[in-house]
Amino acid sequence: MKILNESLIKRFMKLTLGLIAVVAISSSSNAQGDPAKGEGLFKANCAACHFPDKNMTGPALKGARQRWIDNSSEENFYAWVKNSQSVIAAGDPYANQLFNDWGKSVMTAQAVNNDEIDHIFAYIEAYAPKEATPPPTGGPVPSGGVKEETSSTFWWILGGVLLLVIGAVGGVRSQLQSLQRKQAGEVVEEDASVFQSARKWAWKNRGFVGIATVFTVILLLALGMKDLAQIGVFEDYKPEQPIAYSHELHAGEMGIDCKYCHNAVTKSKHATIPTVNVCMNCHRVVHEGQNEAGTAEIAKIHEAAGYDATTNSYSGETKPIKWVKVHNLPDHVYFNHSQHVEVGGIDCKQCHGNMKKETVGRVMTTEDLNNVGVTDEDYDENKVKFTKPTLTMGWCIECHRASSVDLASAPEGSYYNMIHERLLKDRTTYERYLEDDMVTVAELGGLECAKCHY
Ligand code: HEC
Ligand code: HEC
Ligand code: HEC
Ligand code: HEC
Ligand code: HEC
Ligand code: HEC
Repeated sequence: MKILNESLIKRFMKLTLGLIAVVAISSSSNAQGDPAKGEGLFKANCAACHFPDKNMTGPALKGARQRWIDNSSEENFYAWVKNSQSVIAAGDPYANQLFNDWGKSVMTAQAVNNDEIDHIFAYIEAYAPKEATPPPTGGPVPSGGVKEETSSTFWWILGGVLLLVIGAVGGVRSQLQSLQRKQAGEVVEEDASVFQSARKWAWKNRGFVGIATVFTVILLLALGMKDLAQIGVFEDYKPEQPIAYSHELHAGEMGIDCKYCHNAVTKSKHATIPTVNVCMNCHRVVHEGQNEAGTAEIAKIHEAAGYDATTNSYSGETKPIKWVKVHNLPDHVYFNHSQHVEVGGIDCKQCHGNMKKETVGRVMTTEDLNNVGVTDEDYDENKVKFTKPTLTMGWCIECHRASSVDLASAPEGSYYNMIHERLLKDRTTYERYLEDDMVTVAELGGLECAKCHY
């Protein structure tokens, strides 16, 4: 049972990694191997089951070549990587001992040649683990709020400086005045308290003080309005999550498809957050993270799944992981993922930015969304450029005005297909729509209130 499950997982891991694998065909015959070339090869072919320096599904690979030279031969070492089962079948004692020690789990045959194996092991031998990074802790913190705070602090400081300047100017002025009066022979109260002289000064300059007061009140009101306008805007919101999960590691480095975890995204309104079982598909085998902090985070998954890593058994006592929802549309708004992803053919990136570079979920800023893919060779200049904050009504509308609909995209017989067919028959409307060379979502009714509001 255990072996069956593990080999399934491994097959899956290989599949996902295989999808992103670009196997560089190297022509050099450098016997030492090139660590730079080896890194890509290792990640594409071996990283699903091996770490360079610790055990995972398979053993730590540092020193493996030497172990083969000592216990078997270098020739068998190459043969093993290419097809481990053949070396076991040939009766090599070291190979058979390995196989037994690792619970008879099969290392799948690898499509690599000897040069590539040299590159891989050059990388493995040169590998040094990354510095430990402590996981984030504490409750949800909207990072947007932090930004706000800095900007209002700025205003407070500016206000303070302004008052000081006014005070200083006033002070200098009254000093000059009293000097003038002294010279003119008037009697001046020398020892008036600060408060008294301030009052006197304010009274003398009542015109100015009046204007300054009105100005300050207006400024405060304006600041208040600015805060009010921020209600319902969640840009850059990135709450702390109960587990320091990383999209960069899983979707980026390991290349796991977004839809493997957010598996309802093409079929339903919701993209959904994966259950702990999805994590356990791999984390039943992968117990160690990149460092101690990572391992502690994985232990939280085990706890939620009621899994005991030491005995490899489930207690049956599960508790849900309380992921904090990041994107929140109000209840009166209807948004449907499958409509956009499946029918509209829109990439997650358009609305969620480059999640392959993020740790946990974050509501992207307008700038993040506009910058996605700018440096890519195949960057699409006609991509929708946003000006309105993400998730606001203006944001949805902006995209519906700018996006064209591929009339051939909707599945045969579907509701959208019917709308499209009807339009194709109505040539006058169709041609009017086509004046800008495209039929936009807006033209098909994407601005109608009832489409988005219950
Ligand atoms: C599907 C999982 C899987 C993949 C992918 C995989 N291995 Fe393995 N590997 C294993 C397992 C499991 C073992 C332990 C022996 C056994 O059970 O067959 C192993 C053992 C080894 C050994 C022997 C280690 C020792 O201590 O002597 C070497 C060398 C090795 N793998 C190299 C590689 C290389 C290089 C790649 C990539 C080109 C690779 N493996 C890809 C699962 C995998
Ligand atoms: C047209 C813009 C758009 C596209 C494209 C899009 N999303 Fe979303 N996504 C949203 C909006 C808006 C929400 C908030 C929905 C809500 O609060 O009801 C959201 C919410 C989510 C959530 C939170 C859970 C949920 O269902 O509310 C996840 C996870 C998610 N998206 C993943 C994805 C993935 C993965 C893709 C690509 C396959 C994708 N999204 C494509 C706009 C988009
Ligand atoms: C396809 C396999 C796979 C799936 C599915 C998967 N993980 Fe992982 N995860 C890994 C591997 C492999 C590592 C170890 C990477 C390393 O140490 O370099 C890892 C590492 C981690 C770490 C430690 C990171 C660190 O910094 O060391 C955490 C936390 C984690 N995963 C959480 C999750 C959660 C939560 C889920 C489910 C939503 C999940 N994983 C699903 C394969 C997977
Ligand atoms: C291994 C599983 C896994 C993969 C692969 C994965 N995600 Fe996620 N995703 C999660 C988990 C778990 C959360 C909840 C924690 C968080 O917010 O980070 C999440 C959260 C999100 C959110 C925020 C949801 C919310 O609450 O509003 C978005 C958006 C998202 N993912 C998009 C993507 C995109 C785009 C990809 C592909 C590039 C992707 N994810 C790949 C597991 C995964
Ligand atoms: C990145 C661009 C983009 C964004 C942002 C976007 N949409 Fe859309 N939306 C589309 C496209 C493209 C279609 C048309 C899909 C098709 O029929 O081919 C569409 C279609 C729709 C429809 C169906 C319209 C109809 O005529 O039946 C609704 C409802 C909708 N979107 C709601 C929303 C809401 C709510 C938001 C904001 C939370 C939003 N959309 C944000 C691109 C976008
Ligand atoms: C493409 C989708 C879409 C269409 C079409 C649309 N809305 Fe909205 N509307 C939204 C979204 C999304 C929000 C939530 C904005 C937020 O939370 O900041 C919203 C919010 C609102 C609000 C609440 C005020 C606010 O800012 O939260 C009102 C009122 C409203 N819409 C009225 C309308 C009317 C009237 C129409 C037709 C003229 C319309 N909407 C068309 C997506 C849409």
